[in-house]
Amino acid sequence: MPAIISKAPGKTILFGEHAVVYGCPAIAVPIEAVQVKVTILPVIKGSQSIIKIRNFQRFEDIPFADLEKNNPIRVPIENIFSQIGGKPPLFEMTISSTIPIAAGLGSSAALAVAITKGVSQFLGIQLSLDKINSLALQSEIIQHGSPSGIDNSVIAIGKPIYFLKNSPIVIIEIPNSLNLILGDTGKRTLTRNVVQEVRHFLDTEPTIVQPILEKIGKITDNGLNALRSGNLEEVGELMTQNHKALKELKVSSPDLDRLVDSAMKNGALGAKLCGGGKGGYMVTLCESNTLEKISVGLKSAGAENLIQTSINASLSKE
Ligand code: MEV
Repeated sequence: MPAIISKAPGKTILFGEHAVVYGCPAIAVPIEAVQVKVTILPVIKGSQSIIKIRNFQRFEDIPFADLEKNNPIRVPIENIFSQIGGKPPLFEMTISSTIPIAAGLGSSAALAVAITKGVSQFLGIQLSLDKINSLALQSEIIQHGSPSGIDNSVIAIGKPIYFLKNSPIVIIEIPNSLNLILGDTGKRTLTRNVVQEVRHFLDTEPTIVQPILEKIGKITDNGLNALRSGNLEEVGELMTQNHKALKELKVSSPDLDRLVDSAMKNGALGAKLCGGGKGGYMVTLCESNTLEKISVGLKSAGAENLIQTSINASLSKE
C-alpha cells in the first residue's frame, strides 16, 4: 500500500480576530508558505501504532497508545476512528510541520485538518470538505475551549474566506494578488488564554468592549468590499485601523506595536497583529517594490523571523 500523504497550510487573519468569537465577521487567508505534512503507512511488522514527530523543534517516536486523551494528535485520529465500526488497523504516522506553534498562524487547526484528511483516506472513508471541517473544529474545541471555527475553516478550504459563526462560509474572489510579510515577535502565547482575557474584559467592561467589537465588525465588512474591488490602499488602511482596535482590546504588545510601526514607516499599505495576539506574528500588506525595505526594517525592529508570501488572485477562484 503506498503511503498516504496529506498536507494543510497555515493561515493569517486579515480582519476580525477576537470579534469573530462574539458573532462579528472576520476574513482569513491560507498561508501556503508554511504547512503541516502527515504521512501514514500501515504497520506490517509490529504490534502497535506509532507517531513519528519530525519537526525542527521536536524529533521523537511515541506509541499512539501513550498519547494523552486530549492530545492534539490523538483527538483527530480518534474522531475518524469513531466513524468506522470495529478495530482500526495499526498505522505509522509521520508528522512534520513548518508552522510555528502558538504564533497565530493556525498550527493546531492545520494539524487537525491534515490528520483528519490523511486518516480518513487511510481508512478509505470519503469525507466531504464540510465533514473534514467539522471534525477539525471538534479537535479545536478540545484544544482552545471556544474557538470561532475560522482557523479550521480557512485551512480546510484553502482559499480566502469571509467567516461569520453559524453562517455559510463565503469564498472571497480577490482580483489582484496580495503581497504579505509575516513578522515574528519571537514571543509565544496560547490563543485560549488571550481569548479568555478578552472574555473577562467584555464581562467586566461591556460598555467599553462592545463598541470595539462592533467597530472591528464594520472594519471587516469594509475590508471585504476593498478586497473584492482590488483597492489595496483601502485594504491596508483598514488593516491598520483593525490593529488600533485590537490595541484597545488589550491584545497587542510592545513587540507587535514596534513591528507594525516599523512596517508602516517603511511604506507598508497596512499592518496589524494576527491571531490571538500578545505575541506571535504580525502581518503586513506591501506593494512589491517595498518588500525589501519593509523586510530589512522589520529585522532591525527585532523580528526574529519573516515569512514572505503572496496570496494569488487565482487561489480565490472556484
Ligand atoms: C485565532 O486565530 C483567532 C481568534 O479570533 C480566536 C478564534 O477565532 O477562535 C483570536
